[in-house]
Amino acid sequence: MAAVSVTTPAANFDPLARLYRALEYLAFGGDLERARFCLLDHLAGRRSILILGEGDGRCLARLLPLAPEARIHCLDASPAMLARAGARIANTAAQSRVTFECADVLTSVFPAGRYDAVITLFFLDCFDPTQTADLVSRISAALQPGAGWLFADFTVPEHGLARLRARAWLALLYAFFRWQTGLRTRALPPSEELIQQAGFRRAASQDFQWGLLRSSWFVSGSTTN
Ligand SMILES: C[S@@+](CC[C@H](N)C(=O)[O-])C[C@H]1O[C@@H](n2cnc3c(N)ncnc32)[C@H](O)[C@@H]1O
Repeated sequence: MAAVSVTTPAANFDPLARLYRALEYLAFGGDLERARFCLLDHLAGRRSILILGEGDGRCLARLLPLAPEARIHCLDASPAMLARAGARIANTAAQSRVTFECADVLTSVFPAGRYDAVITLFFLDCFDPTQTADLVSRISAALQPGAGWLFADFTVPEHGLARLRARAWLALLYAFFRWQTGLRTRALPPSEELIQQAGFRRAASQDFQWGLLRSSWFVSGSTTN
């Protein structure tokens, strides 16, 4: 009998696509946006960029003028999110540099050594530690030597009230996303540790919201940019 491979379907973010931006501003003001973009300049000059879990296209729209030579592969499992991303850059000359792919990243195959940068913004928190470890390993294999990794996500501070606050927010957020999208993950994976174990070094980092949000720029090998 043939082996049957069972994969968990990706969470469905379609119902949130229209309201996503308003909801994040209600919860965190402009801090998610600040976390997304405070280190974006590191991508200037990159030529082949993979954006995973792009969402509604805000990162893509900022990135296109910043990296005018770059070809950008933009993957997301939500058709509604990708439709918004596509609409955001429609009628610009830069849209010809973008390839949209609607797919589950857990079953996507990435060509070895294709990209010189990857962007994961509030994305790796959708996965459990095993899935994240597998993803980080497959993403790393798709990157060239000296590649950069722009990462932003929620984190839990080590101590004090900031830690309690972060845990309360995360419990609320995971419950909300489980209800709205069917997301099965219930806790943050150790994404930054996994990225570092894969051979990346944190070259820059910024925290927001008393340590609840973190943006980091990682580089592979000995590159300093
Ligand atoms: C929390 S949103 C983050 C969106 C955006 N990057 C941001 O900064 O707000 C997570 C995004 O990842 C996508 N996503 C979740 N699970 C996925 C999967 N397994 N494969 C591909 N995309 C997925 C969702 O459709 C959604 O657009």
